[in-house]
Amino acid sequence: MKKTEMDLLQKTTPYIDAYKEYLSEHNVAFDVPGHHQGNIRTDFDKIFPHAVYKNDINCPRGLDNILHPNGVIKEAEELFALATGARKARFLINGSTSGILIMLMATLKAHQKIILPRNVHKSVINGLVLSGAIPVFLMPEIDKQTEIVNQISFDKWKEAIDENPDARAIFIINPTYFGATCDLKRITDYAHSKGMVVLCDEAHGCHLYFSNKLPMCGMKAGVDISTLSVHKTGGSLTQSSVLLINTDLVSDYEINKSFNLITTTSPSSLLLASLDGARKYLYFHASKKLNEVIKLARNTINEVNQIKGFKAHGKEYFTTNGTYDFDETKVVIELDNLSINGFRVYQILKDEYNIQIELGETYVFLLVFTIGTKYEDTIKLIDALKDISKRFYKENIIYPDHHFLTSLPEMIARPRVAFHAPLKVVDLEEAENKVSKEMIMIYPPGIPLVIPGEKISSRVIEQIEYYKETGVSLFSDFDGANKVSIIDEDAYLEDE
Ligand SMILES: Cc1ncc(COP(=O)(O)O)c(C=O)c1O
Repeated sequence: MKKTEMDLLQKTTPYIDAYKEYLSEHNVAFDVPGHHQGNIRTDFDKIFPHAVYKNDINCPRGLDNILHPNGVIKEAEELFALATGARKARFLINGSTSGILIMLMATLKAHQKIILPRNVHKSVINGLVLSGAIPVFLMPEIDKQTEIVNQISFDKWKEAIDENPDARAIFIINPTYFGATCDLKRITDYAHSKGMVVLCDEAHGCHLYFSNKLPMCGMKAGVDISTLSVHKTGGSLTQSSVLLINTDLVSDYEINKSFNLITTTSPSSLLLASLDGARKYLYFHASKKLNEVIKLARNTINEVNQIKGFKAHGKEYFTTNGTYDFDETKVVIELDNLSINGFRVYQILKDEYNIQIELGETYVFLLVFTIGTKYEDTIKLIDALKDISKRFYKENIIYPDHHFLTSLPEMIARPRVAFHAPLKVVDLEEAENKVSKEMIMIYPPGIPLVIPGEKISSRVIEQIEYYKETGVSLFSDFDGANKVSIIDEDAYLEDE
């Protein structure tokens, strides 16, 4: 399609236009949602204009149906697909979490193998539970200095693909939470040459589709299905995401079936409209905006590196330390002779300086720069870090031993088998060498320390104890992982 023709198409916002028209008609409501476009008042009005209620409709006549789109939702999805180089796009209103569940269930049946890195998000493990697939986990390299989990090299992917010729699919994260990317095209081509489906988690990668200064996006690399959290880096409202499809290896029928299984019948019109608006914004403005954002991130790295107690890292650091490529909108700041840990920096920035950052870890914290980042805000952050440096910088601090796993945990049962296996609840210290029925993690980033079916090693217990001491919230079946749900080994393990 010619650029002029594409530009004309991308100027349109079919869902927003139909929505606006519906609102302008002042229809009388005898449908749901039950507040009937704001005919009640609640304390919600203390923080939002009443217009939010007025504009909150479900899927009335004229606004299409997300489960079987054939009107304005379909048109808006088609524009999204065109803007991202996909054959088809489906709007999601329960985040990339739902996209991941959909693509895993559409692609895999019980007992089929999928090759994937161990540092996947919890939703991927849930997708394994739902599909019944067999995971073949790969352990990514861990950057020793920052303790950040990197990507898997092409050679390691190739080896795993060669060793598992019966695998149905591979699953790639592009980029990781911390911005690392892999040789996506080469890995995708190799997996395709062996007939495997390539699934991609681009929860943190929506912006990659709209800049040629950033690592390659999934559709360009030829992946089959990808999910993008448009809400994370693309400017739409929280929870709104999109599934991108360009495959002959998974049928539309399977994708639709899984989509309909996971998706609510009451999608929020606000979320859908925000996707239509974000797509138009991204198409026309993101490239320029992202160039500015990359510069802003680079400047921030330089400024932070003048402050005692912090070492800021970007593309240069990661690509010289084993990462194939790096998303420069992520800035990782390592602590260097600071007498507090990264969790504490995260808390102090919020509680004392009103600055909310993305994540704190033991020896690093993470800043996410997006199309919404403002220069003035980077100044506030730098000033706050200068102040924190004055308060907590001390020479010759020796950091205690690190607590990260470097080898793959032992997998005893498929996640689905473990999930349905008979339950026994034990104290954490009694859980050593038992098979977990649950996931335990800190969030963010939501990468499980242990998953259903894995043996709970002493190292995992140590790590959980360590996180407890730091005061971060541990998400588990039992708050704070004081108790752990394990498989009752005395009961029969039924294979499903
Ligand atoms: C790597 C990764 N994948 C998937 C998700 C899920 O995305 P969402 O929050 O849009 O459901 C997240 C969320 O943090 C994530 O970090």
